[in-house]
This record gives sequence, structure tokens and C-alpha cells, in this order.
Amino acid sequence: MNNTKAVLIARPDGMAKQSDFAIKEEAVREISDGEILIAIKFLSLDPALRGWMNEGTTYIKGVELGTVMRCFGAGEIIQSNHPDYNVGEHVSGLLGAQQFSISDGKGLSKCDLGVGPLSWHLGIMGMPGMTAYFGLLEKGKPVAGETVFVSGAAGVVGSTVGQIAKIKGCRVVGTAGTNAKCKYLLDECGFDAAINYKEEDVEAGIKKHCPDGIHVFYDNVGGPLLDTVLANLGKGARVVICGAISQYNKSPIYGPSNYMKIVTARGYITGIIVFDYIKEYPKAVREISAWMKEGKMKTKEHIEKGIENFPSTLEMLFTGKNFGKLLLEV
Ligand SMILES: NC(=O)c1ccc[n+]([C@@H]2O[C@H](COP(=O)([O-])OP(=O)(O)OC[C@H]3O[C@@H](n4cnc5c(N)ncnc54)[C@H](OP(=O)(O)O)[C@@H]3O)[C@@H](O)[C@H]2O)c1
Repeated sequence: MNNTKAVLIARPDGMAKQSDFAIKEEAVREISDGEILIAIKFLSLDPALRGWMNEGTTYIKGVELGTVMRCFGAGEIIQSNHPDYNVGEHVSGLLGAQQFSISDGKGLSKCDLGVGPLSWHLGIMGMPGMTAYFGLLEKGKPVAGETVFVSGAAGVVGSTVGQIAKIKGCRVVGTAGTNAKCKYLLDECGFDAAINYKEEDVEAGIKKHCPDGIHVFYDNVGGPLLDTVLANLGKGARVVICGAISQYNKSPIYGPSNYMKIVTARGYITGIIVFDYIKEYPKAVREISAWMKEGKMKTKEHIEKGIENFPSTLEMLFTGKNFGKLLLEV
């Protein structure tokens, strides 16, 4: 059996490009005692991959040049020499950008297909869904009646944040980059208002849709948008920095100049790294699964095909061409 994989061969300067990767093929080796062989069905394209391509260590070490690109994946166990894993079971984890992955089982999660299809375990019931759940509830601490503002709202993290905030009784306003995405937020996700940040004046939109100020800002975008929101915080506001996708391809990055508004709002700015909540994931999966079954929450997926398209698919996250959780079917 041959394994096709996307190997990182260069550190990107700005946007990651095709030439930063080599698509290689090699024979799958025999598994040893304590190992399993996974046939990967879906790879998860996440904005964090851009940071993992850089040299050095942040919350996780950068991917070594010449090795398979790190990314989440989900698949089926097709061989097992491990007592805890059986052939036919489905697992997810950092399986790498490839067709087959050999694992000793450490860091893998078993996927219960009873709570949702395999792809959901990389999206709303996987790492991005957990980010939304814990980032909003543990860091943003929304209270019914408050206004929650979400940037990058039409993505898997943003749309999940907004829907949880609605369930918690908040007014929810978000930004997205196309009218179709804004329509999805209003019609499918129950947002109270959506602002197309590419075509509309965001400040004017905030004044119109958030008359009492913003109490929780869940930021996926960063840059000048963060400054605009800081200028419009309500009293006691919590600003959750989840990501800053507008800055991932830049160096140096744009920092906020309106940060003193945190003082006048008596608020705080905080960050979230989802991996800090790994032990609590099952609780969140149970709750999100129940909300999905009750029809209180929806998710949208964008599925591309073929491992050779890994580099061009990754690019979609940074041009806004993805509409929903971006996956590559292997
Ligand atoms: N802290 C953590 O532990 C953690 C974990 C997971 C994810 N995250 C962060 O969560 C955020 C959302 O991730 P996701 O998986 O849900 O991705 P996503 O929203 O599905 O995809 C990325 C979206 O970002 C938007 N975007 C790209 N460039 C932009 C720019 N210059 N300005 C404004 N928007 C831009 C695009 O949508 P538009 O069409 O709307 O522009 C694009 O579709 C990212 O910042 C990611 O790094 C953090």
C-alpha cells in the first residue's frame, strides 16, 4: 500500500503557497506491537496550520522541514496491534496531512458516530467546536441579555460561538466577508445582525446593532477590527482573543491602539488555547450533540477532495473562499 502525503519543505513568507509543500508517495510500513494503522478519511484545514509552519515554538513546536505537515484528521482503524483499539473503530487526532497514519494511540480520540458523522468530529464536535464552547463560556462568560459580538462569524468557530450565545439568551452580532455568509448567519444561525466587513462600515454597524455596547467580544480576526470593537465596549466587557487570522501572514502584526478602552469599560482582554480543556471535551461534546439533536444548533461544512490539493485548500482559509468547516476528503 502506498501513502501520499504533503510534506513541509519551506517556511512561508506571507501566505503559505504550493511551493512550501512537496507531495510525496512512499510505501506504508508494517505496524509494530502497540501500534495501529489508520486510513484517514478527512483532514482538517485549520488557520493554526499557518503558525505551525513557522520556525520555533509558541504553544506548540513548529513543524520540522522535510516532515509530513501536522494537521488534525479522522479515519478508520484498518490494522491494530494495540489492546485498546479495534479494527473498524474511528479515531481523530493529529494524524498528519497524509492518507494513512501509524499511531501508538497516544493523543487519539475515539469518534462516536452515534453523536454525529465522522467529519463533525473535526468540526463542531472536534477541536474548533471545543474552542467555541470553552472560549465563550469559560472566558467570555456571557450573561442573558448581554450583547455578544463575534468576528469571523461564519466560520466553524464563529458560527458555533454565536449559536451558543443565542442559546444562553444573548443578543448576537457578527462580521463575515460575503453577503451569502451574512445571510447564513441571520437565516440559519439565528444571529440578530450580521455585518459584511468588506462592504459595510463596521463602526456604523456596531453603533446600529449594539446600542448598549459590546459585552463579550469573541475575536477570531484581530487587526484594525479589534480596535474598532474596543472603541465600542460596554461596561464590564470581556474580550476573548481566540485568533487573529487577518495577521497570520504578516510580520510584524498590527497591535491595538484602543486598548485603554478596556480601562474605561472596566473590562478585560483574555486568550484561549483550546488544548487546555482537553479533559473537559466530553462534557462539551454531550451538550453540543444535544443542542444539535434539539435543532438549536447547525453546522456547515466545506469539503474539498484529494491530498494533492492540500496546499491550495489551506489557502482558502486566508482568502475567505471556504464557507463552513474546511475539510479535505482523502
Ligand atoms: N485559540 C485556539 O485554541 C483556537 C483554536 C481553533 C481556532 N482558533 C482560531 O479561530 C479562528 C477561526 O477558525 P475557524 O477554524 O473557524 O476558521 P474559519 O472561520 O472557518 O475560516 C477562516 C475565515 O477567516 C476569515 N478571514 C480570512 N482572512 C481574513 C481577514 N484578513 N480579515 C477578516 N477575516 C478573514 C475568512 O472568512 P470571511 O469570508 O468572513 O473573511 C475565512 O473563511 C481563527 O483565528 C483560528 O486561528 C483558535
